[in-house]
Amino acid sequence: PRVAVVFGGRSSEHAISVVTAGSVLRALDRDAYEVLPIGITHDGRFALTTDEPERMAITDGKLPDVDQLAESTEGQVNLPASPVAREVVYAEPGAVPKALGEVDVVLPLLHGPWGEDGTLQGLLELSGVPYVGSGVLSSSVGMDKEYTKRVLEAFGLPVGPYTVVRPREWATEAGREAALARIGELQYPVFVKPARAGSSIGITKVSDPADLVRAIEFAREHDPKVIVEQGVVGRELECGVLEFEDGPRASLPAEVLVAEGFDFYDFEAKYIDSSDVQIPANLNEDELGRLQELAVQVFEALSCEGLARVDVFLQENGEFVVNEINTMPGFTPISAFPKMWEASGIAYPQLVDHLLQAALR
Ligand code: DAL
Ligand code: MG
Repeated sequence: PRVAVVFGGRSSEHAISVVTAGSVLRALDRDAYEVLPIGITHDGRFALTTDEPERMAITDGKLPDVDQLAESTEGQVNLPASPVAREVVYAEPGAVPKALGEVDVVLPLLHGPWGEDGTLQGLLELSGVPYVGSGVLSSSVGMDKEYTKRVLEAFGLPVGPYTVVRPREWATEAGREAALARIGELQYPVFVKPARAGSSIGITKVSDPADLVRAIEFAREHDPKVIVEQGVVGRELECGVLEFEDGPRASLPAEVLVAEGFDFYDFEAKYIDSSDVQIPANLNEDELGRLQELAVQVFEALSCEGLARVDVFLQENGEFVVNEINTMPGFTPISAFPKMWEASGIAYPQLVDHLLQAALR
């Protein structure tokens, strides 16, 4: 089969997506698949890129970028696929797009808005191209930390206390006061987050109410809608979910062990200092069973497809609360999702093959 591996994109997680794609490109069985690497630049142009996984890594703290990988900066198009066919088109500016041929399946390795949030999935639905992972609705709900929680609450699944600061509310003096009053009802520390972002970008842990407004303004640089969550005291755990023909199954979980000197699992702690994840997490049988069941319930509540990673906290009282879901979790060399499946008996290349085969069915 011919696979278009799509990565990069307009979100702040562009570089992480490139690193994810680098790992996946390295793992793809080239005897089984013909691979078409397609990068999306920061400004949203689609470009055929080189197929050099070794250039798609974080080197000395420097983040990779689609513009450096595009085969020709001229050869970029705005349309990834014709709206009526499975064909990828490729054009020089001002020239008639030329078809790159038919694609059997798209692997959208995008993190964050404009890729993991249903937008690309919608384009692929319109184009009639099969793709890996969740559909439009699940992707959008999973990207939005507010609607993820609202859906989980409606299903009776546990989430922590939070409040949302909407753009129209923040625009007026009275609205700001109301928002700050609601936040005042939460216990500190709180986490101030862009509602739709990932890799901890734009997040501030706030322990002093005096720092709140600055944290909200910072999060608003990434998303005009901000969510403020009460910090959960407990262990931070992640669980992979993978769809099989007979339904979704949960992996062995991981526990996040934030690197020394970091206040929480922020971008630097995640990718630059490479905080440790312990796999499998040290849980007793009861905790493991409840976590795996919860992860599958979250996957089902959001009608996810293919794969997801569910992030939770295990509170001191023994109860879990769901933190968030990632419908396209990181696949970097240090990412928990592939490592959790490896520990559960599915090696990285097999995992990629499983996802593609499921999408092709
Ligand atoms: N959003 C990042 C890529 C993750 O969840 O792994
Ligand atoms: Mg997370």
